Amino acid sequence: MSALFEPFSLKDVTLRNRIAIPPMCQYMADNGVINDWHHVHLASMARGGAGLVVVEATAVSPEGRITPGCAGIWSDEHAQAFIPAVKAIKAAGSVPGIQIAHAGRKASANRPWEGDDHIAATDPAGWQTIGPSPIAFGAHLPKVPQEMTLDDIARVRQDFVDAARRAREVGFEWIELHFAHGYLGQSFFSEHSNQRTDAYGGSFDNRSRFLLETLAAVREVWPENLPLTARFGVIEYDGRDEQTLSESIELARRFKDGGLDLLSVSVGFTIPDTNIPWGPAFMGPIAERVRREAGIPVTSAWGFGTPQLANDAIKAGHLDLVSVGRAHLADPHWAYFAAKELGVDNASWTLPAPYAHWLERYR
Ligand SMILES: Cc1cc2nc3c(=O)[nH]c(=O)nc-3n(C[C@H](O)[C@H](O)[C@H](O)COP(=O)(O)O)c2cc1C
Repeated sequence: MSALFEPFSLKDVTLRNRIAIPPMCQYMADNGVINDWHHVHLASMARGGAGLVVVEATAVSPEGRITPGCAGIWSDEHAQAFIPAVKAIKAAGSVPGIQIAHAGRKASANRPWEGDDHIAATDPAGWQTIGPSPIAFGAHLPKVPQEMTLDDIARVRQDFVDAARRAREVGFEWIELHFAHGYLGQSFFSEHSNQRTDAYGGSFDNRSRFLLETLAAVREVWPENLPLTARFGVIEYDGRDEQTLSESIELARRFKDGGLDLLSVSVGFTIPDTNIPWGPAFMGPIAERVRREAGIPVTSAWGFGTPQLANDAIKAGHLDLVSVGRAHLADPHWAYFAAKELGVDNASWTLPAPYAHWLERYR
């Protein structure tokens, strides 16, 4: 058995292998409510054989959506819409996860293929963004967010709690708090976007406060026996990498002490001008360092979508789970072909019979 196809257990959940489908926005929801597009998309991802399918960034409030097409879970109606997808993911033998999110100052944007920029201030489709400080991201996202009051902070924290509770009520077994990619959580942690002078800005402790308080509040409603995870950008590639990374590792330790079960290690994306060393599996050694120094299980993404690289990342102890995104959009049966390429006996178990029977002798 190859390392990639070993099962992975976290709390009371066991994944059939080490392959995770990371959250991938579809921008196809109607006022935040997911629909047939998402059901088919998520079912096909799960049928491909991955151990875990994490539903796209799902907003905890309307203003927390990245674009008007983003999914939401700010009401029971929104949550109910996930039931067919959750059932289909489970029926395919995968574990249903969801990423809950608030986009902060990067919200109110056009869909990627419609420009990926902020919706024009004059366009009624857009909305007022919020953030820790009134500092714009810049470049294609010039809107200045409204500085959050202490009441705003408490409200958004509660929105995360309500979202987590609803996610559990409709059957999700794995939750990921989106604290990465320059969205609200990440922007509280980064000095690029947080210049507050109150208890939520300045020192490391203060910049960590929103994230840790949100984690603690969600921990109270999310069942102790199910994985509570977060995605966080541990490095910005802004020239201050060692300082950011060591602060991030300290934060990961505190996440762990606060009840986090696994960290999805990613890039900060808090500012537009960075020098990211894009390349196959480039986050592997960084994730390994977080895993080792913070003592927490990790996953990571960005260029692990070839079977050998994914398998090596597990074998080398860089990752506990490999997140494979775009390669699954290109081929929802990526796990099946990975199993065949890695010489896993009887790879057909990763696919339902109506596909496996015909693909057995294909490729
Ligand atoms: C279409 C698309 C949508 C994405 N949406 C999200 C998202 O909702 N949340 C998130 O944390 N990352 C998102 N990402 C980033 C992916 O989770 C992943 O990190 C990225 O695709 C890199 O992994 P890969 O090289 O395997 O594709 C998205 C990526 C793509 C391609």
